[in-house]
Amino acid sequence: MSQFSITVNGEAVELSVDGNTPLLWVLREQLRLLGTKFGCGMGLCGACTVHLDGSPIRSCSFPIQAAQGRQITTIEGLSDGDDLHPLQSSWLEFNVPQCGYCQSGQLMSAAALLANNPQPSDQEIDEAMSGNICRCGTYPRIRAAIRHTADNAVQQFDPKQTNESEPMEAQS
Ligand code: FES
Ligand code: FES
Repeated sequence: MSQFSITVNGEAVELSVDGNTPLLWVLREQLRLLGTKFGCGMGLCGACTVHLDGSPIRSCSFPIQAAQGRQITTIEGLSDGDDLHPLQSSWLEFNVPQCGYCQSGQLMSAAALLANNPQPSDQEIDEAMSGNICRCGTYPRIRAAIRHTADNAVQQFDPKQTNESEPMEAQS
C-alpha cells in the first residue's frame, strides 16, 4: 500500500492503495463515482474514459500511481453544478443514448475534443471518437450532437450574428 494525493472533480483526495491499482477501481470502488463504466478492461472500448489534466485517458488501464498530484475529471464533474455541459444539453436534444452504457465515456472524449479544438472538422470528430465503442450504434447521433454543440458555440460568440439579431442604435 502507498499513499497518493489526487484531485477528483475539484476535490483533493488522499488514498492508501497499491500503486498499480487501475484508476477506474479507485473511482468506482473507493470513491463510489459510478458514472465511469467498466467495459473491456483493456483500454479498447472507451467506456472508462476520464480526463487527466484535461486529456482523455482510459482509466481501466491507468495505474493510480501515474495520477499522483494530478487532476482527474469524471462524468460527475463535467457539469457545473446544475448547469449541464453544452454537450450534455445536445445529448438530450438529440436523444443520443440507447442503453447508455458507453455514454459517459463518449461524453468525456467529446468534451476533451471541443476543449482543445472548438471547431473540429467532421473528420477530426470521427478521429477523436474512434476509440469509443457503442454496441447500440449511436454513432450518427453522437456526431450530430458534437457538430451541433460546436456550431452553436460559434453562433453565440460570432459578432456578425450578434449584430444581425441586435442592431446597434444610430449614434447622435
Ligand atoms: S473499460 Fe477501459 S477501455 Fe474498455
Ligand atoms: S448506448 Fe448502448 S453501448 Fe452505447
